[in-house]
Amino acid sequence: MSMQNAIKSITTTQISQKKGVEKITMLTAYDALMAKIFDGEVDMILVGDSLQMSFFGGQDTLSSTLDSMIYHTQAVCNGAKKSLIVCDLPFGSTTTSHLALQSAIRIYKETKAQAVKLEVGFEGIKSIKMLVENGIAVMAHIGLKPQFVRSEGGYKVQGKTQENIESLINLAQDIERSGAFSILLEGVRAEAAKQITQSVKIPIIGIGSGVDVDGQVLVWSDAFGFFEEFKPKFVRQYLKGAELLRQGVRKYVEDVKSGHFPSEQESY
Ligand code: KIV
Repeated sequence: MSMQNAIKSITTTQISQKKGVEKITMLTAYDALMAKIFDGEVDMILVGDSLQMSFFGGQDTLSSTLDSMIYHTQAVCNGAKKSLIVCDLPFGSTTTSHLALQSAIRIYKETKAQAVKLEVGFEGIKSIKMLVENGIAVMAHIGLKPQFVRSEGGYKVQGKTQENIESLINLAQDIERSGAFSILLEGVRAEAAKQITQSVKIPIIGIGSGVDVDGQVLVWSDAFGFFEEFKPKFVRQYLKGAELLRQGVRKYVEDVKSGHFPSEQESY
């Protein structure tokens, strides 16, 4: 395919320019089929380490590996050509800035993802700078950080005290100065999220952080009702996916058992 005919995906610069102009949309995907459906509909597709729960059925995200993130990102890149693809750096792959760089370089070399995401506190600023200096686009994940679920004893909503809000604002500003193109803000009280969003020029993509942020992200299986065990307060279900699929499965089983499938037209 010539350069002229290649489908151009949205760039990190275009994402950054949407701040204050239009809301940014992002969904997770872990395979080519879903990615193809979401492609061009949402601005960004996140291959999140949430795949360890939503795809693999794990209890948390901690056991996802760099190999599995790369495998699923390759699949998503096979399906999506227009939306910007962000790959999560999994637990243990960013413990030093050098390791973060090695991990991110593998993602850039082995997939077509345009950016990586990493969960950070102030200690992660060095890693962000290291990645950006080496030509890797970074989305920083702050607020509630699922990779800290075991050490913190659960998923704790953030932004409840003035001290915590000020710390998140300082962190967001440090991240901006380090060259990240955006921030994912998870599980932060709406009023605090608004203040954090106003404190930086890079876009803040929220999840469970209220409406006054620059965009929203949801895990696809939550958004479309494929994960039925539990619906977090911040999730809106746009489809009863599992219910619809179950109806289809039951109809298929019924048709096979009754001999109505396959028909003559469906046979050679
Ligand atoms: O891994 C993930 O899917 C995430 C969510 C918070 C969107 O980071």
